[in-house]
Amino acid sequence: MCRKLSLLLLLLGLSLGSTLAFHLQTSLKTSSKIQELQMESKVLAETHQDTSSMCFAYYSPQLSQVTDQYQADYDLCMTNYEHNKTVSVHQYYKNDLEQIETDVYRCSEAMLRCYDAETAIEAFECISTTAAEEAQIFYGVSSNATQVAAEVKLFYVKIDTELNKCVNSAERSYVENTSNVYDQLNACLRSNKIPPTPTPPTPTYSTP
Ligand SMILES: *[C@@H]1O[C@H](CO)[C@@H](O)[C@H](O)[C@H]1NC(C)=O
Ligand SMILES: *[C@@H]1O[C@H](CO)[C@@H](O)[C@H](O)[C@H]1NC(C)=O
Ligand SMILES: *[C@@H]1O[C@H](CO)[C@@H](O)[C@H](O)[C@H]1NC(C)=O
Repeated sequence: MCRKLSLLLLLLGLSLGSTLAFHLQTSLKTSSKIQELQMESKVLAETHQDTSSMCFAYYSPQLSQVTDQYQADYDLCMTNYEHNKTVSVHQYYKNDLEQIETDVYRCSEAMLRCYDAETAIEAFECISTTAAEEAQIFYGVSSNATQVAAEVKLFYVKIDTELNKCVNSAERSYVENTSNVYDQLNACLRSNKIPPTPTPPTPTYSTP
């Protein structure tokens, strides 16, 4: 059972790794595709100087819209990341920290109460038993703190993973949308006219 589980985890880890690698490759390939498209527009603009300004006037705002969207998406990724790294992490261990604080406080209080004993013997006996009891509590505090530390570390890993996913998705949208607009721009430069449908990912949109 255990071996099966670890094998599954291993496979998951492997496939996750190769998926990430795949995404990285695709996005690199597509950004070199953007470069090709940019080169193509440059060449096309030179050969169709008469009408190229019309095409650029039409598609430049769309290109900057894609860039603005990417900037906004990226900023949102970073804002969420910073928020989770500070506020959420603190929320996450706040209760444990309070619990530990209470335990520690209660221990010192119990010890201090021993000083109220009538005689020195009573006081030392009180300290002796209280300290022994508190050693148990401190043992619990120690193991709890170890566990919380491990959980918080794991939470940080999750936050980093979320940031990576978020940025990857923003980059992918940027690359896809940019290629899309360049495709249309180049079609415009080639045909000397603006294609009838303005934006491709809006099928419900009808030209006025
Ligand atoms: C770009 O593509 C994504 C989906 O891939 C979409 O949500 C977004 O609105 C598109 N437009 C712009 C201007 O980035
Ligand atoms: C350790 O954690 C457990 C479960 O969260 C809690 O019940 C217990 O009071 C904690 N002990 C100490 C000493 O903090
Ligand atoms: C971080 O914050 C965002 C939004 O506030 C949320 O969607 C995301 O699930 C959070 N968690 C992690 C582990 O990043």
